[in-house]
Amino acid sequence: MEFSKIENETKKIYIDQHLNYLKDESLFRRFYEWASKPESHGLPDGWLEGKDVLDLGCGNSAYMEKALCDLGANSITCLDIGNDWQGLLSTALESLNVDRSKFTFVGASCVELPFDDNSFDYVGAFGVLMHLETMEMINQSVREMNRVVKPSGYCYAYFGSGSHGILDKYIHKSLRTAYVSEPDFKSFIDNLSVDDLRKELVHILAKGLGNDPLFTEETISFLASMLTLDTTTYFQNLLQVPVQQGANYDTEYVDKMITQCGGTNIKDIPQTHYYQRRDFRRFLTPFHLSRVDSDYCRLMFGNGHIHKSWQKKSTNN
Ligand SMILES: C[S@@+](CC[C@H](N)C(=O)[O-])C[C@H]1O[C@@H](n2cnc3c(N)ncnc32)[C@H](O)[C@@H]1O
Repeated sequence: MEFSKIENETKKIYIDQHLNYLKDESLFRRFYEWASKPESHGLPDGWLEGKDVLDLGCGNSAYMEKALCDLGANSITCLDIGNDWQGLLSTALESLNVDRSKFTFVGASCVELPFDDNSFDYVGAFGVLMHLETMEMINQSVREMNRVVKPSGYCYAYFGSGSHGILDKYIHKSLRTAYVSEPDFKSFIDNLSVDDLRKELVHILAKGLGNDPLFTEETISFLASMLTLDTTTYFQNLLQVPVQQGANYDTEYVDKMITQCGGTNIKDIPQTHYYQRRDFRRFLTPFHLSRVDSDYCRLMFGNGHIHKSWQKKSTNN
């Protein structure tokens, strides 16, 4: 199968970022804890037991594979571009003591799935669709999900930020423009190192020592400790990926698209999980969760990222 330049670039960028999930336990754990709750998938407790699952755009972060295994899936088919992620995912699964015999790896694109109709009980696309080059490719991928899922099964997709928050609609977009337009900024982001960042911060904040009583060695050291591998991975994730469609649509648009692509029983999956961060963004988690009762948080973060579950429209519908 031939892959486009963008598909290959996206894969290459994520391979490196995903290696960080195993280097920083808190990064892995944060996602694993979310993924290992049935309600995060919009599924009833115990439903995944004995089921056949397809993970589209699985990458090599491995948290979802461990979570699906721990939720009792019978088989997990992992699909991503090409094959250079496969050895890395395999090594990650071994280091996590996950039963390797449950897994099949497939190098293919989510817009053209090499599976028969009605092959899987659950088809998930975790953070993939918004990185596809065109809206038509997203449509095609959702159509393919509906084709390969069994009539009684479920699909789930995370579609990204949605178009309502100031942060995603304007600020992140501007930072992405700066990343592609400013070589020095690009180089800074591509070479982010936690040690260097901490040293730089300590060096800068030391100018306040003796001049402002708020600046103490202890405070500076605490602030430096709030920069971790999770921080650098977060900024690289935000800026390096070539395509980010998330802020180009809203939840109503996505519902319409899923319906047109043959989906029904569409549900918004509430995002109530408290992500346990260890870097400075741990102070942002309460803001993310306050969209429902704070005008400021709703303005900045919008209505929440778009997570949908749905089923295949039966031919009798
Ligand atoms: C943000 S990462 C998400 C990885 C994983 N699902 C996770 O949650 O950690 C996006 C993944 O989508 C993959 N990807 C990009 N375009 C794809 C396509 N057309 N078909 C399949 N996978 C694709 C990338 O290679 C990358 O591994």
